[in-house]
Amino acid sequence: MLRFLSRQGSLSVVRQVIPRKTISLHLRVNTLIIRYRTFSATANSPHLVTMPERRPFVRLPTDVYPVNYGLCLKPDLIDFTFEGKLEAAVEVTQGTNQIVMNCADIDIITASFAPDGGEEINATGFNYQNEDEKVTLSFPSALQKGSGTLKIDFVGELNDKMKGFYRSKYATPSGEIRHAAVTQFEATDARRAFPCWDEPAIKATFDITLIIPKDRVALSNMNVIDRKPYPEDDSLVEVKFATTPIMSTYLVAFVIGEYDFVESQSSDGVTVRVYTPLGKAEQGKFALEVATKTLPFYKDYFNVPYPLPKIDLIAIADFAAGAMENWGLVTYRETALLIDPRNSCASSRQWVALVVGHELAHQWFGNLVTMEWWTHLWLNEGFASWIEYLCVDHCFPEYDIWTQFVSADYTRALDLDALDNSHPIEVNVGHPSEVDEIFDAISYSKGASVIRMLHNYIGDEDFRKGMNTYLLKFQHKNASTEDLWDCLEQASGKPIAAVMSSWTKQMGFPIIVVDQEQQGDDRALKISQKKFCASGPHSGEECPTWMVPISICTSEDPSCSKMNVLMEHPEINITIPSLSPNKWVKLNPGTVGFYRIQYSSAMLDSFLPGIRDLTLLPVDRLGLQNDLFSLLHKQADMQEEKNRIERVLGAISAPELIQRVLNFALSNVWDKHHRKCK
Ligand code: BES
Ligand code: ZN
Repeated sequence: MLRFLSRQGSLSVVRQVIPRKTISLHLRVNTLIIRYRTFSATANSPHLVTMPERRPFVRLPTDVYPVNYGLCLKPDLIDFTFEGKLEAAVEVTQGTNQIVMNCADIDIITASFAPDGGEEINATGFNYQNEDEKVTLSFPSALQKGSGTLKIDFVGELNDKMKGFYRSKYATPSGEIRHAAVTQFEATDARRAFPCWDEPAIKATFDITLIIPKDRVALSNMNVIDRKPYPEDDSLVEVKFATTPIMSTYLVAFVIGEYDFVESQSSDGVTVRVYTPLGKAEQGKFALEVATKTLPFYKDYFNVPYPLPKIDLIAIADFAAGAMENWGLVTYRETALLIDPRNSCASSRQWVALVVGHELAHQWFGNLVTMEWWTHLWLNEGFASWIEYLCVDHCFPEYDIWTQFVSADYTRALDLDALDNSHPIEVNVGHPSEVDEIFDAISYSKGASVIRMLHNYIGDEDFRKGMNTYLLKFQHKNASTEDLWDCLEQASGKPIAAVMSSWTKQMGFPIIVVDQEQQGDDRALKISQKKFCASGPHSGEECPTWMVPISICTSEDPSCSKMNVLMEHPEINITIPSLSPNKWVKLNPGTVGFYRIQYSSAMLDSFLPGIRDLTLLPVDRLGLQNDLFSLLHKQADMQEEKNRIERVLGAISAPELIQRVLNFALSNVWDKHHRKCK
């Protein structure tokens, strides 16, 4: 969500590493909800700040687990309540007289357990542990090892908090105010709609039935297999959906409301629909085009078919995130899905294409293979945030979308990650309340940037091979970050786990310092790395190092790597054979490596002709400019110089000005910086 907001509203939030209670304020600004986080101190002591103990978090016991959820829900769109009936096929792995499940803001009316072929036993106690969002059902006698059916009748509220099973307000074309009932379960809010084992690794199949007013649309993850009158009330109908594949609870979804839709069939036979508010079907056409192009792209890229018969994309009037990848029923805020063909600008269409590309990527990476625990969430989101660009670049090459990746995600991640209060991409998550904290720009933008660097290091062919192995090996199961590294390591023969852990387990990134010397016909490069800090040279005891994939190009072909090295030490020397003195050497063509570069003055000077005649790619000019500015910015707040450098390196038309500004940057500030570092 943070990425969405900052893209649209230039808000960036860096996670604070203070484990304290979080208060979220939602402010609606120009249809965007901006979430500010503040951290509470102890209310009645202005001087002494005591931190509440972090609650020890315990995952659900594994002695009883679900195999299938038969779930029937009957929402009341006037009173904002719902009734639910759960009939879950469960497996008891060890005799016990209690069942512990997740449950929040739900009242259980009755619960019983019946072993297969045995007698039903009623639960005699429901002990709610509200803080832990759990309930313990107690039975008068032990449930024996084996299969059985757990039945629970319950009631809940269609809340107005945009999480769990909630109500969303809309106006009909005639202006009447009505409510839809919709869901948002990630990360841990399925438990607000029905008692369940709400952890990503506890997968089961789902048979969902919704009892709804007969003039409303009901949607869920799967296609409708039956729609019949509800015997107890002839204003209602009972809509039954096909059984889902085995899946995690956070991906379950249902929507009951009034919508129009546009429909198409993707070339691989999947029915795609885009649901819009009444009377706005036309605004769904662009997203429909994107989705029908995107599905075959992913099928081909992963070499794994989309496993469901349909996919619906729906615009929800009240929606907290930007979009959510529920399997087969992807939900979006209206601005991330709808395009008014008469009044929308190119950037809105690009944004919709990226969001659709992102959520559809999750249908494989996240939904088919799911992270074992929320610790691996960065990989889920970082991967989708990278491949959405690959997909949009394939479907809409005219957008030149990778240049936008560099100017938006990549530079933003570098800026944030240079701060002392950044954090590693991979953070251990215990209690579900911590999950929300890691949905930030570091997970999304740095995550996407390091996956992009990895893809470039491995090469597309081996990367795809490794992805295919990973998806086939873990499909319908769960996996960890290391499982992906293993598959990519096997496919490429490169030390992926070692390289990647240096980027994911430590915060920050290096600045690569380069100098060169002509040695006869050859060019010798001296390259060193140190941590890049926005606050000045790294001063800690031990300077962290990274395993840095470095590619090198020359003026012979500025867009193509002439040499690739893996920098495993703080300093290395490289020789480029047969390179005449008049040729320049540049690191990081395409600006794919997640690091900054500090060239010697002579090297930087040598790029000027390539900047002037545009032989250096826009992303490379952007990278040079951004690195230069960040080095200047470290020294002083020289807004004027920043503007000049941006003007000069952006608008190539004034070569004398380029020279003047670069001379200033190099001689004056750069040397000062250099002296300070030495
Ligand atoms: N899985 C997330 C949605 C999500 C985010 C759920 C936070 C719960 C909490 C989804 O795939 C996502 O990343 N959505 C982005 C939009 C996307 C295009 C970057 C969002 O909501 O900002
Ligand atoms: Zn995502």
